[in-house]
Amino acid sequence: MRLTILGGGGFRVPLVYQALLSDRGEGRVTEVVLYDADRARLSAIGAVLRQQARAAGVEKPPVVTETTSLDEALRGADFVFSAIRVGGLEGRTIDERVALDLGVLGQETVGAGGIAYGLRTLPVATAVAQRIAALAPGAWTINFTNPAGMVTEAMLPYLGDRVIGICDSPSGLGRRAAQALELDPSQVYYDYAGLNHLGWLRGLYFDGVDRLPELLASDERLGSFEEGRLFGPEWLRSLGAIPNEYLHYYYFARETLAAVAGSKQTRGAFLQDQQSAFYAEAGRHPELALEAWQRTRAERESTYMVESREVADAGERDERDMSAGGYEQVALSLMRAIAHNERASLILNVRNRGVLKHLDDDAVVEIPCVVDANGARPTPVGGTQLTDHQAGLVCAIKSVERSTIEAATTGSRTAAIRAFAHHPLIDSVTAAGSLLSAYAGHHRELGAFRL
Ligand code: G6P
Ligand code: MN
Repeated sequence: MRLTILGGGGFRVPLVYQALLSDRGEGRVTEVVLYDADRARLSAIGAVLRQQARAAGVEKPPVVTETTSLDEALRGADFVFSAIRVGGLEGRTIDERVALDLGVLGQETVGAGGIAYGLRTLPVATAVAQRIAALAPGAWTINFTNPAGMVTEAMLPYLGDRVIGICDSPSGLGRRAAQALELDPSQVYYDYAGLNHLGWLRGLYFDGVDRLPELLASDERLGSFEEGRLFGPEWLRSLGAIPNEYLHYYYFARETLAAVAGSKQTRGAFLQDQQSAFYAEAGRHPELALEAWQRTRAERESTYMVESREVADAGERDERDMSAGGYEQVALSLMRAIAHNERASLILNVRNRGVLKHLDDDAVVEIPCVVDANGARPTPVGGTQLTDHQAGLVCAIKSVERSTIEAATTGSRTAAIRAFAHHPLIDSVTAAGSLLSAYAGHHRELGAFRL
């Protein structure tokens, strides 16, 4: 079984490899092909993986090869895991800074930052999809490339239902909520729906009983996990659901904007410094690559969404969330379910196919799916539909995503301005035009923007 990782020099790749090392089941992944445009990053991550294999002491760890040729990486792949960052962290920092300078939120995937990131990424992601379709037509593509919902939707015309988008935040929320009720997270059915980074946990079923009302009723239980603290018991009870952590940027828009704008460094700038130090260190001392990676990762995890936690006075990040299986577990469970025809229920980004009535069949939504050898199909979530409030936000963002896809594929400035102007966190059409001009100026220099 061969897994090809696009963005193979990326910082989170060792998480995936660690998950593969602990999978001793029949038919597990035996070969990992790392593809990256950057040779130095590939060698650094390659060194980390070799040290992980040694430390795990397992017999026959997945064999790792490295390549800078996309076509070579794709030939013979059973699974393609796409986790690329077009423009790198330098691009992310520009996405954040330009928005903040124009008075709106600058964030990796939310608001103006997410649109700029989409405009830069979509042409590359669709080109990759076409290469996969040509060279590995039987492969399954797992898309983690952000903005994951819009990128998955843009890859679908080339790959059909063989592309599935993933994110760690819905399962993380579900796990935290289940633990707050002292339930085993693996025994719970999560009624979660929305778009990537824009969804709500609307029910949490254990032994056929929805335990969410019990969770919402308890200040103490709500105070025991991240989303409970971020949104606060009163607002959660008013919503009757628990939002994905990214909704903090919407429900507390002015406070999060002020906090992000006021912090001494944006997240992208922080990570840029941190990661360039890691890659340089791993280059100088390859034998210490794993140690450097672990140290860097711990610091990265503990500072995740730090401004939101400050706004909510939510305190430190929970220790369990820094080590618990995140997106690598979602990816591994998805691959196992497909490869072994082992039915699994996972929250994934797939075509809606009539499940959420407010959206058309081809809209990519983030929803519980049943997965087996035939791929992932959305499960009708207890017949529950989005509330008017949820549907309003979801439809607004879906139209932003589609205008962004249109702009990226046709080069239309009108569509790009529409994408910015339709976003609920961008409060003026004039600002939308300024955002586009400013982004186009900066990103053209990176050679990664058509508009
Ligand atoms: C979560 C999200 C990802 C996102 C990441 C950002 O894992 O699900 O989609 O890219 O957070 O984390 P970072 O440490 O890069 O700010
Ligand atoms: Mn995500």
